[in-house]
Amino acid sequence: MSHNLYEDVKETPIYTKEEIQAVVARMGAEISRDYADKNPVMISVLRGAFVFMADLVRAITVPCEIDFMAVSSYGAGTESSGRVRILKDLDTNVEGRHVIIVEDVLDSGVTLSKLIEMFKSRGCASLAVATMFDKPDRRKAHVEVAYNGLVIPNEFVVGYGLDYAEKYRNLPDLCVLKPEVYTK
Ligand code: PRP
Repeated sequence: MSHNLYEDVKETPIYTKEEIQAVVARMGAEISRDYADKNPVMISVLRGAFVFMADLVRAITVPCEIDFMAVSSYGAGTESSGRVRILKDLDTNVEGRHVIIVEDVLDSGVTLSKLIEMFKSRGCASLAVATMFDKPDRRKAHVEVAYNGLVIPNEFVVGYGLDYAEKYRNLPDLCVLKPEVYTK
């Protein structure tokens, strides 16, 4: 039996792929303007941010490099544990480099505030955060965001890189998961 992922999400997306792409284009233009001669290192936090990272770098028209980190804060559940563990570190030495952390969603802020602390201690020349989605209702730690995408309500959202139990990341829209999917 084939299973269409769209059967598990509410019919109307919170943001359609077209709305998302328009915002990514705007953010790419802002970064291109601000980093014209800086060759920034774009650092994406796996796994959720891989979709946004791929779109964002293609909306940037100046030289930039990319690298990836994997951290864990949520496990398989839906609530942040408040701890951040480095599962895969960078390959790039960021000392003296202009760093942009690329996140898919800023939720409690715990992950980003820990990462910001860590990058500062590694001596980068400058540090900025770009986040595609922001759930301000859930904030526990303050995070300064230079490039903001879209604000989302405090609902269980999936798609555009965001998962539930590792699924739904490949939905191009940002959708609300039907409660029966995560309560069964
Ligand atoms: C998500 C997201 C951020 C973090 C944000 O990752 O990519 O890293 O949660 O939450 P916070 O602001 O409450 O710290 P997640 O741990 O779900 O892993 P994933 O990217 O592999 O889905």
